[in-house]
Amino acid sequence: MRVAVIGAGVIGLTTAQSIYEQYHSIVTPLIIEVYADYFTPLTTSDGAAGLWQPYLNDKGNVQEREWCKQTFDYLVNCLRSPECVKMGLFLQSGYNLCTNPTPDPTFKDIVLGFRQLTERELKMFPGYRLAKRGVKFHHRKIGSFTELSKNGADVIINCTGVRSGDLQPDPELQPGRGQIIKVEAPWLKHWILTHTGEIYNSPYIIPGSRLVAVGGVFQIGNWNERNDSSDHKDIWEKACQLEPSLRHAKIVDDWTGLRPARKKVRLERETILCGTTAVEVIHNYGHGGFGITISRGCAQEAARLFGQMLEQKGKELKAHL
Ligand code: FAD
Ligand code: BEZ
Repeated sequence: MRVAVIGAGVIGLTTAQSIYEQYHSIVTPLIIEVYADYFTPLTTSDGAAGLWQPYLNDKGNVQEREWCKQTFDYLVNCLRSPECVKMGLFLQSGYNLCTNPTPDPTFKDIVLGFRQLTERELKMFPGYRLAKRGVKFHHRKIGSFTELSKNGADVIINCTGVRSGDLQPDPELQPGRGQIIKVEAPWLKHWILTHTGEIYNSPYIIPGSRLVAVGGVFQIGNWNERNDSSDHKDIWEKACQLEPSLRHAKIVDDWTGLRPARKKVRLERETILCGTTAVEVIHNYGHGGFGITISRGCAQEAARLFGQMLEQKGKELKAHL
């Protein structure tokens, strides 16, 4: 069985990992190959702030909520392993500041120790109201699903993020352009996200293991992958108003990334005719500004769909004999 995963961002790699973990001892041989034109550190996933947090308003998508929860539980479990240092994984506290009254997010029972800010905490922010396993890697661009089918892939896992539309048109998928400034400010140990309207279009400050990510913008339909000086100025001024000590921070880098924005994650099976050959495709893309947050849950679901397809193929084979 040859499985071709297209994409080496957080979604492609976690999906390859889940398929490997669940099937390598059952399906032999199981050849997993990852194809991507960009690998670390050049994917959107590399630039992401890296915070686990779903959108404050998850629009009632119970399935996505469950995948985010699975990812959180998986990551909390990883915290107990020494590998968490290499993963850049650590626990951190922080504030979500909302200008409008906002109901408690549905993730309040997933995270550890969710609570409302106290009056004293709110006073600090005037203006805001409470409210390696044998997987092979190929550094190349894939032009079509047919290309991989002709190359011998039995199953294709489509984890191509914002550029998925190049392989199969998807009017629902759009770039949600983001830009962040990375700074040296080791005294900041607490994240702050503000919510004043459009998601992630207002200031946020997220300390990472080495640098602090300062954002942000969320520009729907904007394909510009270059840093924009006027966005930089705007992000910086607003963030410094929120956290004045940033004025003493050393600016190290600017980074622009395109979120794969979609009303809902596309995670489903499809049989696609490539010439005369029918090839099985599992789509796993469209994770917007929560790809890290939902990655493991989606990977496990993609692996489950893979198993379902194997079972179906097994039955078809038996019926032929
Ligand atoms: P990508 O990381 O973009 O990977 C796509 C892969 O597909 C790449 O390897 C690419 O080379 C490959 N590819 C595409 N087309 C082809 C092709 N035709 N042939 C070969 N290879 C192809 N999420 C969070 O959960 N927490 C955060 O704190 C967070 N912060 C963010 C901050 C910013 C500024 C931005 C922009 C995003 C942030 N996100 C965050 C969202 C997160 O970055 C994305 O949801 C996630 O990176 C999407 O992962 P992906 O693997 O689908 O895409
Ligand atoms: C974003 O800019 O997409 C983002 C910022 C913080 C947390 C999650 C996502």
